[in-house]
Amino acid sequence: PAIAAVVPAAGIGKRMQSAVPKQYLKLHGKTVLEHSVAKLRAVSAVNQIWLALAADDPYFDATELTHSDINRVKGGAERMHSVLNALQFIDEHQFPWVLVHDAARPLVRKADIELLITRCLQQGEGGILASPVRDTMKRGACYVAETVSREHLWHALTPQFFPTAMLKAALHDAIQAGVNVTDEASAMEWAGHRVMLVEGHSDNIKITQPADLALAAFYLEQVTE
Ligand code: CTP
Ligand code: MG
Repeated sequence: PAIAAVVPAAGIGKRMQSAVPKQYLKLHGKTVLEHSVAKLRAVSAVNQIWLALAADDPYFDATELTHSDINRVKGGAERMHSVLNALQFIDEHQFPWVLVHDAARPLVRKADIELLITRCLQQGEGGILASPVRDTMKRGACYVAETVSREHLWHALTPQFFPTAMLKAALHDAIQAGVNVTDEASAMEWAGHRVMLVEGHSDNIKITQPADLALAAFYLEQVTE
Protein backbone atom coordinates (compact mmCIF):
# COMPACT_ATOMS: atom_id res chain seq x y z
CA PRO A 1 0.00 0.00 0.00
CA ALA A 2 1.05 3.61 -0.55
CA ILE A 3 2.37 5.35 2.54
CA ALA A 4 2.32 9.05 3.44
CA ALA A 5 4.45 10.58 6.19
CA VAL A 6 3.67 13.48 8.50
CA VAL A 7 6.39 15.39 10.30
CA PRO A 8 5.13 17.70 13.05
CA ALA A 9 7.64 20.57 13.12
CA ALA A 10 5.57 23.45 14.47
CA GLY A 11 6.75 23.45 18.07
CA ILE A 12 8.65 26.24 19.80
CA GLY A 13 11.02 23.98 21.73
CA LYS A 14 10.47 25.61 25.09
CA ARG A 15 12.51 23.07 27.06
CA MET A 16 15.46 23.52 24.70
CA GLN A 17 15.75 27.18 25.73
CA SER A 18 17.26 28.31 22.46
CA ALA A 19 16.29 31.33 20.35
CA VAL A 20 16.00 29.19 17.23
CA PRO A 21 13.43 26.36 17.56
CA LYS A 22 15.25 23.05 18.02
CA GLN A 23 14.15 21.59 14.66
CA TYR A 24 16.26 24.33 13.03
CA LEU A 25 19.40 23.90 15.13
CA LYS A 26 22.31 22.50 13.15
CA LEU A 27 23.84 19.07 13.50
CA HIS A 28 26.90 18.47 11.34
CA GLY A 29 25.95 21.35 9.06
CA LYS A 30 22.32 20.40 8.46
CA THR A 31 19.23 21.32 10.45
CA VAL A 32 17.66 18.72 12.73
CA LEU A 33 14.56 18.86 10.50
CA GLU A 34 16.58 18.11 7.37
CA HIS A 35 18.14 15.09 9.05
CA SER A 36 14.73 13.79 10.11
CA VAL A 37 13.20 14.28 6.67
CA ALA A 38 16.21 12.65 4.99
CA LYS A 39 15.60 9.52 7.07
CA LEU A 40 12.01 9.28 5.84
CA ARG A 41 13.07 9.95 2.26
CA ALA A 42 15.55 7.10 2.42
CA VAL A 43 12.67 4.67 2.96
CA SER A 44 11.37 3.75 -0.49
CA ALA A 45 7.95 2.71 0.86
CA VAL A 46 7.25 6.33 1.86
CA ASN A 47 5.63 8.01 -1.14
CA GLN A 48 4.67 11.46 0.11
CA ILE A 49 5.79 13.73 2.97
CA TRP A 50 3.82 16.44 4.78
CA LEU A 51 5.44 18.95 7.13
CA ALA A 52 3.45 20.88 9.72
CA LEU A 53 5.17 24.23 10.25
CA ALA A 54 4.43 27.14 12.56
CA ALA A 55 2.34 29.84 10.86
CA ASP A 56 5.09 32.43 11.35
CA ASP A 57 8.08 30.17 10.62
CA PRO A 58 10.92 32.32 9.22
CA TYR A 59 13.46 29.46 9.17
CA PHE A 60 12.09 26.91 6.72
CA ASP A 61 12.90 28.85 3.57
CA ALA A 62 16.57 28.93 4.54
CA THR A 63 16.71 25.12 4.38
CA GLU A 64 17.30 22.95 1.34
CA LEU A 65 13.81 21.51 1.84
CA THR A 66 12.24 24.62 0.40
CA HIS A 67 13.40 23.47 -3.04
CA SER A 68 11.94 19.99 -2.61
CA ASP A 69 8.62 18.34 -3.42
CA ILE A 70 7.68 18.37 0.24
CA ASN A 71 4.17 19.47 1.20
CA ARG A 72 3.63 22.05 3.92
CA VAL A 73 0.67 22.74 6.16
CA LYS A 74 0.13 25.04 9.11
CA GLY A 75 0.73 23.56 12.52
CA GLY A 76 -1.63 23.94 15.46
CA ALA A 77 -1.54 24.77 19.16
CA GLU A 78 -0.43 21.29 20.26
CA ARG A 79 1.35 18.50 18.46
CA MET A 80 -1.98 16.62 18.04
CA HIS A 81 -3.45 19.61 16.17
CA SER A 82 -0.39 19.89 13.94
CA VAL A 83 -0.65 16.21 12.99
CA LEU A 84 -4.40 16.37 12.40
CA ASN A 85 -3.98 19.47 10.19
CA ALA A 86 -1.62 17.50 7.96
CA LEU A 87 -3.82 14.38 7.97
CA GLN A 88 -6.74 16.42 6.60
CA PHE A 89 -4.78 16.81 3.36
CA ILE A 90 -3.99 13.12 2.99
CA ASP A 91 -6.42 11.05 0.95
CA GLU A 92 -6.88 7.78 2.82
CA HIS A 93 -7.88 5.95 -0.36
CA GLN A 94 -4.67 6.93 -2.07
CA PHE A 95 -2.57 6.57 1.10
CA PRO A 96 -4.20 4.00 3.40
CA TRP A 97 -1.28 4.07 5.87
CA VAL A 98 0.48 7.01 7.47
CA LEU A 99 3.77 7.31 9.31
CA VAL A 100 4.15 10.15 11.85
CA HIS A 101 7.67 11.16 12.85
CA ASP A 102 8.87 13.95 15.16
CA ALA A 103 10.97 16.62 13.48
CA ALA A 104 13.07 16.51 16.65
CA ARG A 105 14.20 12.85 16.15
CA PRO A 106 16.98 13.09 13.57
CA LEU A 107 18.70 9.85 14.62
CA VAL A 108 16.06 7.31 13.75
CA ARG A 109 17.49 4.47 11.70
CA LYS A 110 16.20 3.62 8.27
CA ALA A 111 16.17 -0.06 9.25
CA ASP A 112 13.97 0.66 12.28
CA ILE A 113 11.46 2.59 10.16
CA GLU A 114 11.37 -0.30 7.70
CA LEU A 115 10.95 -2.82 10.53
CA LEU A 116 7.98 -0.88 11.92
CA ILE A 117 6.32 -0.71 8.51
CA THR A 118 6.90 -4.37 7.74
CA ARG A 119 5.64 -5.65 11.09
CA CYS A 120 2.51 -3.49 11.05
CA LEU A 121 1.60 -4.39 7.46
CA GLN A 122 2.16 -8.09 8.20
CA GLN A 123 -0.07 -7.85 11.23
CA GLY A 124 -2.56 -5.45 9.64
CA GLU A 125 -2.41 -3.31 12.78
CA GLY A 126 -0.87 0.01 13.76
CA GLY A 127 2.22 0.27 15.89
CA ILE A 128 5.06 2.40 17.20
CA LEU A 129 8.79 2.19 17.64
CA ALA A 130 9.55 1.81 21.33
CA SER A 131 12.50 0.95 23.54
CA PRO A 132 12.43 -0.98 26.83
CA VAL A 133 12.94 1.08 30.00
CA ARG A 134 16.31 0.42 31.67
CA ASP A 135 16.17 2.19 35.03
CA THR A 136 14.17 1.18 38.07
CA MET A 137 10.97 3.21 37.84
CA LYS A 138 9.37 5.12 40.73
CA ARG A 139 6.04 6.89 40.88
CA GLY A 140 5.62 9.75 43.36
CA ALA A 141 5.78 13.51 43.91
CA CYS A 142 8.34 14.25 46.69
CA TYR A 143 8.56 10.73 48.06
CA VAL A 144 8.22 7.36 46.41
CA ALA A 145 4.63 6.23 46.37
CA GLU A 146 5.51 3.01 44.62
CA THR A 147 8.15 1.24 42.60
CA VAL A 148 6.77 0.43 39.19
CA SER A 149 7.91 -2.83 37.68
CA ARG A 150 10.14 -2.25 34.68
CA GLU A 151 8.79 -5.35 33.08
CA HIS A 152 6.61 -4.46 30.10
CA LEU A 153 7.47 -0.75 30.37
CA TRP A 154 8.60 1.05 27.22
CA HIS A 155 9.65 4.48 26.00
CA ALA A 156 7.36 5.51 23.14
CA LEU A 157 9.45 6.72 20.19
CA THR A 158 8.55 7.74 16.67
CA PRO A 159 7.77 6.92 13.89
CA GLN A 160 4.28 5.77 14.74
CA PHE A 161 2.42 4.01 11.94
CA PHE A 162 -1.35 3.65 11.54
CA PRO A 163 -4.14 3.22 9.02
CA THR A 164 -4.79 6.80 7.86
CA ALA A 165 -8.57 6.81 8.27
CA MET A 166 -8.41 5.33 11.78
CA LEU A 167 -5.79 7.82 12.96
CA LYS A 168 -7.69 10.76 11.49
CA ALA A 169 -10.86 9.69 13.29
CA ALA A 170 -9.09 8.94 16.58
CA LEU A 171 -7.25 12.27 16.71
CA HIS A 172 -10.34 14.19 15.65
CA ASP A 173 -12.48 12.49 18.30
CA ALA A 174 -9.85 12.87 21.04
CA ILE A 175 -9.60 16.60 20.35
CA GLN A 176 -13.40 16.93 20.30
CA ALA A 177 -13.58 15.13 23.64
CA GLY A 178 -10.94 17.41 25.14
CA VAL A 179 -8.47 14.57 25.70
CA ASN A 180 -4.86 15.72 25.58
CA VAL A 181 -2.68 13.19 23.79
CA THR A 182 1.07 13.59 23.31
CA ASP A 183 1.49 10.94 20.65
CA GLU A 184 -0.61 9.27 17.96
CA ALA A 185 -0.70 5.96 19.81
CA SER A 186 -2.45 7.60 22.79
CA ALA A 187 -5.26 8.74 20.52
CA MET A 188 -5.54 5.25 19.00
CA GLU A 189 -5.54 3.61 22.46
CA TRP A 190 -8.17 6.08 23.64
CA ALA A 191 -10.30 5.15 20.61
CA GLY A 192 -10.00 1.46 21.58
CA HIS A 193 -7.52 0.27 18.96
CA ARG A 194 -4.61 -2.09 19.58
CA VAL A 195 -1.15 -0.58 19.15
CA MET A 196 1.80 -2.86 18.48
CA LEU A 197 5.16 -2.25 20.19
CA VAL A 198 8.08 -2.67 17.81
CA GLU A 199 11.48 -2.49 19.44
CA GLY A 200 13.71 0.22 18.00
CA HIS A 201 17.13 1.55 18.96
CA SER A 202 17.21 3.75 22.05
CA ASP A 203 19.60 6.25 20.42
CA ASN A 204 16.56 7.52 18.50
CA ILE A 205 16.33 10.37 21.04
CA LYS A 206 14.00 13.33 20.81
CA ILE A 207 16.06 16.48 21.06
CA THR A 208 14.40 18.05 24.07
CA GLN A 209 16.96 19.69 26.41
CA PRO A 210 20.13 21.68 25.68
CA ALA A 211 22.49 18.75 26.38
CA ASP A 212 20.69 16.60 23.79
CA LEU A 213 22.25 18.42 20.85
CA ALA A 214 25.81 17.37 21.75
CA LEU A 215 24.57 13.85 22.44
CA ALA A 216 22.85 13.76 19.05
CA ALA A 217 26.04 14.98 17.36
CA PHE A 218 27.95 12.17 19.08
CA TYR A 219 25.40 9.53 18.05
CA LEU A 220 25.42 10.86 14.51
CA GLU A 221 29.08 10.01 14.26
CA GLN A 222 28.47 6.44 15.44
CA VAL A 223 25.14 5.56 14.01
CA THR A 224 24.72 3.66 10.81
CA GLU A 225 21.56 2.94 8.87
N1 CTP B 1 5.11 20.04 17.50
C1 CTP B 1 4.23 20.52 16.54
N2 CTP B 1 3.24 21.39 16.89
C2 CTP B 1 3.11 21.79 18.16
C3 CTP B 1 3.99 21.30 19.17
C4 CTP B 1 4.98 20.41 18.80
O1 CTP B 1 4.36 20.19 15.36
N3 CTP B 1 2.14 22.65 18.46
C5 CTP B 1 6.20 19.13 17.09
C6 CTP B 1 7.59 19.64 17.48
O2 CTP B 1 8.07 20.55 16.50
C7 CTP B 1 8.40 18.37 17.59
C8 CTP B 1 7.37 17.30 17.94
O3 CTP B 1 6.08 17.89 17.76
O4 CTP B 1 9.02 18.00 16.37
C9 CTP B 1 7.56 16.77 19.35
O5 CTP B 1 7.23 17.77 20.29
P1 CTP B 1 8.18 18.36 21.42
O6 CTP B 1 9.43 17.57 21.51
O7 CTP B 1 7.37 18.57 22.64
O8 CTP B 1 8.61 19.78 20.78
P2 CTP B 1 8.21 21.23 21.28
O9 CTP B 1 6.78 21.26 21.63
O10 CTP B 1 8.70 22.17 20.24
O11 CTP B 1 9.13 21.39 22.58
P3 CTP B 1 8.66 21.88 24.06
O12 CTP B 1 7.57 20.91 24.47
O13 CTP B 1 9.89 21.80 24.88
O14 CTP B 1 8.16 23.29 23.89
MG1 MG C 1 5.99 20.06 23.25
